[in-house]
Amino acid sequence: MTQKKRIFSGMQPTGFLTLGNYLGAMRNWVALQDEYDCVYSVVDLHSLTVRNEAKDLRQRRLSLLAQYIACGLDPEKNILFMQSHVSAHAELCWILSCYTYMGELSRMTQFKEKAAKQQDNINAGLFTYPILMAADILLYQTDLVPVGEDQKQHLELSRDIAERFNGIYGNVFKVPEPYIPKVGARIMSLQDPGSKMSKSDENANSYILLLDPPETIMRKFKRAVTDSEAVIRYDVKNKPGVSNLMSIYSSVTGKTLEQIENEFEGKGYGDFKTAVGEAVVETLRPIQEEYNKLMESKDYLQDLMKKGAEAAGRIAGKTLSKVYRKIGLA
Ligand code: TYM
Repeated sequence: MTQKKRIFSGMQPTGFLTLGNYLGAMRNWVALQDEYDCVYSVVDLHSLTVRNEAKDLRQRRLSLLAQYIACGLDPEKNILFMQSHVSAHAELCWILSCYTYMGELSRMTQFKEKAAKQQDNINAGLFTYPILMAADILLYQTDLVPVGEDQKQHLELSRDIAERFNGIYGNVFKVPEPYIPKVGARIMSLQDPGSKMSKSDENANSYILLLDPPETIMRKFKRAVTDSEAVIRYDVKNKPGVSNLMSIYSSVTGKTLEQIENEFEGKGYGDFKTAVGEAVVETLRPIQEEYNKLMESKDYLQDLMKKGAEAAGRIAGKTLSKVYRKIGLA
């Protein structure tokens, strides 16, 4: 029997998951779980780059784990765990930071964007964030990393770090490939279709949360920014709002952009927005039902967290020991 290839990916518990997180990454995680050996983390250390109340963070990380399972990740098939429970992540992060250049980190567009947003808290963690991400991935000898388009640059840096390290010490790390969906890789804000949908946006009308009630979802889609042409046509440059809604609709229904254009020929934006909203509500309904059930079994989630950390720790520990030997710390 040939060994399955390995997948690693993670999401931050900085807020509740958005439709962007789901369509850009989570759906692929679910789709790939049978074919690959998958390790999915709640990357709670990453979320410290913004300020959190301790009790909120504690609650959100458990909630994120429940959202993973509610979206369809089978805890029997995948390793699901909290990043902070496996200390190898922080240890490898330090080592790799000595093999990463300031110039490389300065080029990261996410750092520039986040630094502009939180000018009163441009902490060093925000700058070294991609090194922790490289440590996450490389610890598991990962073949494939399913993420949205915005993480592509970080993935490229992870590959560069792995290749640099391997160039010095021999074949220590697998060099990972990104896995980015064709449709849904970059879901945009409903209020400002020039920027990506983000759970940290101040305007709650700009994003759809996986846990938003149906009437909220319908209201947010009805208020989505479009244009004055009143034609449903895919044209990102001239019609970014409508194109974004078309991507969402295509992503949740499986219809092609052409089929959508035909379906809504001669119809107005009102009809179109209602159809998108209803399709999203139906996609999220079973997820929300499952989530509500899971959040009633906190002991089960705690137990799962413990088992996940043990399983992840075994794999990560092997890679870290190898690194220690190679660099002369063991
Ligand atoms: P986070 O929590 O910001 O995002 C989680 C995932 O959701 C994707 N995503 C989107 N996809 C499409 N459209 C959007 N509007 C949108 N917004 C977010 C992201 O690309 C990501 O896949 N740095 C990572 C977390 C991380 C990680 C890792 C990922 C830490 N270590 C190791 C992979 C491997 C992040 O962006 O989280």
